[in-house]
Amino acid sequence: MLMQTKEQSSLSKSDFPTDFIWGVATSSYQIEGGHDADGRGPSIWDTFCKQPGTIADSSSGEVACDHYRLWEEDLDLIARLGVSAYRFSISWSRVQPLGQGPWNEAGFAFYERLMQGLASRGIQAHITLNHWDLPQALQDHGGWLHRNTCNHFVRYALEVARRFGDRCASLCTHNEPWVIAVLGHELGIFAPGFKSRAMSIQVAHHLLLSHGMAVRAMRDAGLRTELGIVLNLSPIYPASDSPADVAKAKIDDGLNARWYLDALVQGKYPQDVLDHLGTDAPAFTAEDMRTIAQPLDYLGVNYYTRNFSSTGNPWDVHSTGNEVTDMGWEVYPEGLTELLCRLHQDYGVRRLRVTENGAAFKDVLDQGVVDDERRESYLKRHILATQQALKQGVPVDAYFAWSLMDNFEWASGYAKRFGLVHVDYATLARTPKRSALWYQHFLKG
Ligand code: FCB
Repeated sequence: MLMQTKEQSSLSKSDFPTDFIWGVATSSYQIEGGHDADGRGPSIWDTFCKQPGTIADSSSGEVACDHYRLWEEDLDLIARLGVSAYRFSISWSRVQPLGQGPWNEAGFAFYERLMQGLASRGIQAHITLNHWDLPQALQDHGGWLHRNTCNHFVRYALEVARRFGDRCASLCTHNEPWVIAVLGHELGIFAPGFKSRAMSIQVAHHLLLSHGMAVRAMRDAGLRTELGIVLNLSPIYPASDSPADVAKAKIDDGLNARWYLDALVQGKYPQDVLDHLGTDAPAFTAEDMRTIAQPLDYLGVNYYTRNFSSTGNPWDVHSTGNEVTDMGWEVYPEGLTELLCRLHQDYGVRRLRVTENGAAFKDVLDQGVVDDERRESYLKRHILATQQALKQGVPVDAYFAWSLMDNFEWASGYAKRFGLVHVDYATLARTPKRSALWYQHFLKG
């Protein structure tokens, strides 16, 4: 049994503003399946999963949670939780199989059903345009390394905005551009699987540029919906007091956080990071930087843990003695408060949103019950951490738990379970876990 602190047991929804947005989040490739249904084209994740050795359990998102067929049941689950909002992403290659050229009406019809299903249940839709699943056909033309992909992205964004823009609560351009750039193009452990730092940083620039271009185009088209972007951010501490570790932590924070934030908010890249990159620095113009820095209605923050930087052996795990999740990530809710306060102080973004927060644990389904006490505690502690930031005057107005249900966790396959709802991948049966029942209870007030 975990010990509940006094704060945890007194946690109450009524301590938050009445219009605070409570939600759950998912993404297309992780839950939809239906990989070739109704004319969907392949994405870079379909291709990547086929390469041997890329996914821990050699699986893919071909079927995933089969949300493409079971969406109605899933919307009922969401409604039963009592959340006010659902954050999901559109699979670009489902609605435009080649990433350019003709739209796939059957693909759009799926999202139309979803939008109507959410509206009829009184749940806000928060749409992400790019949660990593770039159409493979665009990758074949160079993907995010190729500047022209930005133009294709703008056309896709405008089409989604035209169809759903005034019916969704927010539109997010990209989810975690750092992950696409670094895990996808520098470390090669995510799609499309390249290993070049110069490539990675050019990709990061194009993602930011396409964000700015799309936001500007959607606003020029008259869209009034809130527009934003979602970053994965963690406080980064030096692993020791040594000057080398302190310097490493500063540059790691530059590469992970300031690179994106300075560009988005101030229209410039941090000079120390540019110096550090040297010849790997990307090609960009002053005009690009002005485009990137479009006013943001909100900044989404995905927070899971904090990080430590060290110049020592990269395989040495820095252990703090705190609890870790099944991903090996330290449970550190204080980091969320710290991060939100820093974003407010350093960048003064109009509105902040916790767009993902959650934990993987080794869940056991036993006679219809998943007793995931540790996830329940994780959620409570992070909701409290969000409340702490609010109390300090930070304009945070939303919290989305990751994830509605267990799903395809990228290179980790299906072994890592982040869901509030358990998914039996053999039968596709959904079973709300104890954490889901707690969230429901909390949301009832
Ligand atoms: C984030 C991703 C999300 C999920 C969680 C665990 O980086 O945005 O899709 O995989 O991590």
